[in-house]
Amino acid sequence: APDDPGLVERARAAKEALGDRVFVLGHHYQRDEVIQFADVTGDSFKLAREAAARPQAEHVVFCGVHFMAESADILTGDHQTVVLPDLAAGCSMADMAAIEQVEEAWAVLTDAGVSARTVPVTYMNSTAAIKAFTGRHGGTVCTSSNAQVALRWAFEKVGGLTGDGKVLFMPDQHLGRNTAVEQLGLTLEDCVVFDPRKPGGGLTVAELEAARMILWRGHCSVHGRFSVQNVTDVRSRVPGVNVLVHPECKNEVVAAADLVGSTEFIIRALDAAEPGSAWAIGTELNLVRRLAATHPELTVHYLDSTVCFCSTMNRIDLPHLVWTLESLVEGRVPNRIVVDPEDARWARAALDQMLALPG
Ligand code: 13P
Ligand code: SF4
Repeated sequence: APDDPGLVERARAAKEALGDRVFVLGHHYQRDEVIQFADVTGDSFKLAREAAARPQAEHVVFCGVHFMAESADILTGDHQTVVLPDLAAGCSMADMAAIEQVEEAWAVLTDAGVSARTVPVTYMNSTAAIKAFTGRHGGTVCTSSNAQVALRWAFEKVGGLTGDGKVLFMPDQHLGRNTAVEQLGLTLEDCVVFDPRKPGGGLTVAELEAARMILWRGHCSVHGRFSVQNVTDVRSRVPGVNVLVHPECKNEVVAAADLVGSTEFIIRALDAAEPGSAWAIGTELNLVRRLAATHPELTVHYLDSTVCFCSTMNRIDLPHLVWTLESLVEGRVPNRIVVDPEDARWARAALDQMLALPG
């Protein structure tokens, strides 16, 4: 069992034996049983920066999902190994954009005569191959905490927000649309959805020409389930409640909410909240439960009690962490994540571009 005191003790002992040789990173959506052993916790942006901050650590154990561990491998030194405690911890959103599909989409944009005026921007939640594609075509990675700055930068490269330049945003259509509409002042009509399963993405040349945001047809299976009805219900159940959601939620949900932001933003908002105030949070359940436990002075509700955990984040549990740490103590490196060197070079260009964005 995860809260088996024997396992807790074994994790503690293995971590102590490894000392500074191991650095454990934990995403905010990780289970409590795992997060207690993280040296640093954060959203995907913070963890990308932190991964590179301990060059003396031989092993970086990434308690998160596959694309985060890939990014850590790209950003850490060659002498460091990055380990994902369960290789099955993927991300359904990242899996919605395969590199072959993205190459085909770019060919469609080229045939339509718009690729020269298009900058690719990929969400961190994408494979290293997609990040490499983005780097090769002069684009940037972004996360939910810097999507606005990344999009402004990308539009500047193609004539500014008022010109006719375009952004190809992958793979989360919701983050792309929410940032464009809620923060950049573009309209819903400026956004089109490129469906990789349809010929030509399901778009006409005229639609591509008129678009400013070409959104990949991808979404998060957890955040995509929150609905406007959830917002309406909680407002009637809890008068005065503040509704705070992650930008991976649908645009109509974000528009109905009071606040929108990344996991770090959500944490800061609750830290600064008026004691006694009520909050309904639309993000992953491990984080919301932890926020409720650490803020007894607030009333913290889950936006929809039927939506559950991110099942792939949850694959990293205490037994997997113990196995990983004990293997490292014994001199074996299990589940190492290694990005192909050519992909790593170009993905690094796109990640470095993100890290160089202002703010
Ligand atoms: P953050 O960028 O807020 O960490 O989100 C990552 C993620 O996977 C959200 O579903
Ligand atoms: Fe991927 Fe959604 Fe899970 Fe985040 S919450 S890792 S986007 S499936």
